[in-house]
Amino acid sequence: MTKKLYIKTYGCQMNVYDTERMVDVMAHEGYAVTEKPDDADLVVLNTCHIREKAAEKVYSDIGRLRVMKQKRIKKDGKETILAVGGCVAQAEGSEIQRRMPVVDMVFGPQTYHRLPEMTRAADEAKSHGVRPRIVDTDLSVSEKFESLSKKTVSPKRTAFLTIQEGCDKFCTYCVVPYTRGGEFSRSFEDVMKDAGKLHEAGVLEVTLLGQNVNAYHGLSGAGEEWSLARLIRHLADTTDFKRIRYTTSHPGDMTDELIAIHGEVEQCMPYLHLPVQSGSDKIVKAMNRHHTIASYMKNIEAIRAVRPDIALSGDFIVGFPGETDADFQKTMKLVRDVNYAQAYSFMYSERPGTPAAGWENQVESHVKSERLAELQQELERQQRAFNDKSVGKVMPVLLERTGKQASHLVGRSPYMQAVYVDVGNEETAAQNFGKLVDMKIISAGPRSLKGEFAN
Ligand code: 5AD
Ligand code: SF4
Repeated sequence: MTKKLYIKTYGCQMNVYDTERMVDVMAHEGYAVTEKPDDADLVVLNTCHIREKAAEKVYSDIGRLRVMKQKRIKKDGKETILAVGGCVAQAEGSEIQRRMPVVDMVFGPQTYHRLPEMTRAADEAKSHGVRPRIVDTDLSVSEKFESLSKKTVSPKRTAFLTIQEGCDKFCTYCVVPYTRGGEFSRSFEDVMKDAGKLHEAGVLEVTLLGQNVNAYHGLSGAGEEWSLARLIRHLADTTDFKRIRYTTSHPGDMTDELIAIHGEVEQCMPYLHLPVQSGSDKIVKAMNRHHTIASYMKNIEAIRAVRPDIALSGDFIVGFPGETDADFQKTMKLVRDVNYAQAYSFMYSERPGTPAAGWENQVESHVKSERLAELQQELERQQRAFNDKSVGKVMPVLLERTGKQASHLVGRSPYMQAVYVDVGNEETAAQNFGKLVDMKIISAGPRSLKGEFAN
């Protein structure tokens, strides 16, 4: 009998990718995905540790799942294995099971390829009436990719492909170097092997993923080093991918070669997520960001020179320790100067184990909220203006999902905007599903566009 797997994903695209791979490895074990946790034999929480809110949410979800698990065993006599994976698991390890004894398994972002073995061990323990208490938070990466590569099944038109993981930058606010480990670039051949599989499966748009994706420096078997720019060019030349994207980039690794790609490689989409975090040199220095505001602005100018229509996105943190009103106003000025197509913004959150968490010059919570509201108002205005400007234009949209109704399709514009279209009936929707279609944009909302077939 098929077993059921429910996975809840928190946090970033790396976690979305990891979830897809967990689904793949467990499919080989006979597990099918369910949308209902109370139906599942294995429940996995793929967690995020980046900010306190995300981490705390995991504990309240575990509380709810404990009740569900008890009900399931009472009602149907069925056991549920509850697993906590991802970055909270990596950071807190067996502490999670101490705090939440209902958790059977804890594993980090670098060990989920061993999920089948862990699950079998948990089943075995349970069949003997023993609490499993499995913890696997090893941080070495290379074995993981080798193992996953054998089990990839990605039937969609858009896919993520992890090429790099971890980070050596040690921004003073960030947990990533501790939860995901040091910088690791997959070899050129391994990346191309996975790319070939995606290509064969009919994927049209690939997003190259990494915590610091533009620091990519994978080696080939011949010992040659491949940069991200060279890899993108090679993928464009040797595959039929229609669209290539990459995320997340660090301003310090934005090379001239990579910038040039945006003007030269047609498949490289006109969208760049380039977080700057703050507009104040004093703050980016305290954040240990390894770049200045001037160097960031130079990156922006250079990329706009080769690709004037590029949609820019970023991340911002307000209320970092020591941030004064004047520092914050520098962030506001930078945002006005750059003019973003969209962006993410957060209040600084003290993360245990990171340097800035121990500093005495923390900013008061109400100040952080006020600054965030001011910044978000401006970012939302810019996003709306960017979307409004799309109205009347014709652009290719990759129709990758069905919408709320069977006649609705949803896709992305080259600039990452979500585009909705009502194609009239289910049959036309089925015909166009998964296709790259020219759309005329007929209206714009704050976060999405509405389109119709261009001809
Ligand atoms: N507090 C607030 N925001 C954070 N980020 C990372 N760490 C923190 C933190 N401690 C944000 C940064 C990063 C994004 C993924 O999350 O903006 O780019
Ligand atoms: Fe975290 Fe900085 Fe590395 Fe990004 S570059 S993952 S913010 S330490």
